[in-house]
Amino acid sequence: MDSVATTCPVHPEFDPLGEAFLRDPYRVMAQLPLGETPVFYAPSLDYYVVTRYADVERVFLDPEAFSAANAQLPLVPLSPEVGRTLLDGGHKPQPSMVSLDPPAHGRLRKPAARAFTPRRVDEMAPRIRATAAELLDAVDASRPFDLIAALAFPLPMRIMFGFMGVPEEDWPQLKEWCGSRASLAWGRPTDAEALHHAQQMVLYRRYLRELVAAKAGDRGADFCSALLEIHDEDPEALSHEDVASILFSLSFAGHETTNNLIGNCVRRLLEVPDRWARLVADPALIAHAVDEILRFDPSVPVWRRVTTRPVTLGGVDLPAGAKLFLWLAAAGRDAAVFPEPDAFDPERANARRTLAFGRGIHFCIGSALGRLEASLALEELTRRFPALRLLDQEIPFHPNISFRGPQALWVAA
Ligand code: HEM
Repeated sequence: MDSVATTCPVHPEFDPLGEAFLRDPYRVMAQLPLGETPVFYAPSLDYYVVTRYADVERVFLDPEAFSAANAQLPLVPLSPEVGRTLLDGGHKPQPSMVSLDPPAHGRLRKPAARAFTPRRVDEMAPRIRATAAELLDAVDASRPFDLIAALAFPLPMRIMFGFMGVPEEDWPQLKEWCGSRASLAWGRPTDAEALHHAQQMVLYRRYLRELVAAKAGDRGADFCSALLEIHDEDPEALSHEDVASILFSLSFAGHETTNNLIGNCVRRLLEVPDRWARLVADPALIAHAVDEILRFDPSVPVWRRVTTRPVTLGGVDLPAGAKLFLWLAAAGRDAAVFPEPDAFDPERANARRTLAFGRGIHFCIGSALGRLEASLALEELTRRFPALRLLDQEIPFHPNISFRGPQALWVAA
C-alpha cells in the first residue's frame, strides 16, 4: 500500500482514441508527466490510467481488489437499444474467461489452457512453418507487397481457426465478426455503428453455439471436439455453452493479438535497417527480438480492470467501482524495471519480464504460441528476404484501445 495518498491528477487532453494517439501513442506518452502522475484520471473515457510497472503488476496479482469484469465491456456507454440487442442475442457482459473472476474463471481456463502447454505448442511448429512458407510462396516479391495481407493476417487466422475446427469457408466471416468485436468492446463507435456491431456479435455467438452443436454429433481431430470429450465425461463440469464460450475466447485472442505482434515486429525491425540486418546475420536472436518487441511496442498495449473496494494505487485514492486503464505499453517503458527503456535492444536481459501477456490468474494462455508464430514468421522472412525494406507510408491502425498493429505495411524485397 502506498504511504501518501493524494487526490487524483487529471489529464483532460488524454484521449487514446484520438488521432494523435492512434498514430503514435509513444509520442503522447513521452509528453505526459508520468513521473509525477503515474496514476491519473482520463475524463475522455472515465477511466483511471495506471502507467507504472509495479502498479500494473499489483493490479494483475490481486483479483479480489481488482476484478476483470470490465475486460470486454464496451468502453463507452451503449444506447439501450444496443444493450438490449446484445442481451436478447445471448451476449452477456462477461462472455468469456478473460472477464470472469474466480471461481467461474478457473472452470473455463483449465480445459482451454491444457491445449497450449509448451509441449503442445512445440508440436504446432511444423504446421506454422509450412503455413508461413505457403503464404510467402504466393507473394510476388518482384514488386512491393503488403506484409499484413500476405502473412501477418492470414497466418494466425489459419493456425487458430484450423486448430479450433472452424470450417475453412467460414473463416472470412468469423474474421469480420472479430472486427466488430474489437470496435464494440474497445473502440468508440457511433450509436448506429454500435447497433450494427451488436447485431454482428449476436450472429457470431450464434455461429459458435451452432458449431458446438454440430460437432457434438460429428467429431473431428480438432480442439472443439476435444472439449466436447471433456463434456461427455462430466457434462456438469463443462457445458456446451462453456465450450462455445472458450471458442469465443480463442477465436479472437488467438489471432488479433498475434497478427498485430507480427506486424509490430516487422515494422520495428525494418524501421532501423541495422536491426533487420542483425537478425539476418544471427537468426538465434529472433526469439529475443520478439520478446523485446513485446516490451517495446506490445500488440495488446492496454488491458482493463475495475476496483471492487476502495484502494490506494500509485499514491491515489480510488473508490470502489473505479475503472482502470492498465497501460501495458507504458509499463514496458518503465525505467525502474527496464534501463534505457526507449532503446530497442534484442539482447535485453530482462525483456521477458514484460507485462504484455498480463500476470497472475489470467496470464495469457497463448503466450508461447503467439511468440512461436511471430518467431517462425520472422525466421522465414529474414531467410527469404534478407534485404527487405519498409516503403515510405502512413501506417493505418484500427481505432481501438487494446489491439494495436499496422493494418497494412508495405515492404519491398
Ligand atoms: C501474441 C500476442 C498475444 C498477446 C500480446 C496477448 C495478450 C494477452 C493479455 C494482455 C491477456 C490478459 C491477461 C490478464 O488479464 O491478466 C491475455 C489473455 C488471454 N489470451 Fe492472450 N495474447 C496473445 C496471444 C494469444 C494467443 C495466440 C492465444 C490463443 C491461444 C491467446 C489466448 C488468451 C486467452 C484465452 C486469454 C484469457 C486467459 C484468462 O482469462 O485466464 N492469447 N492475452
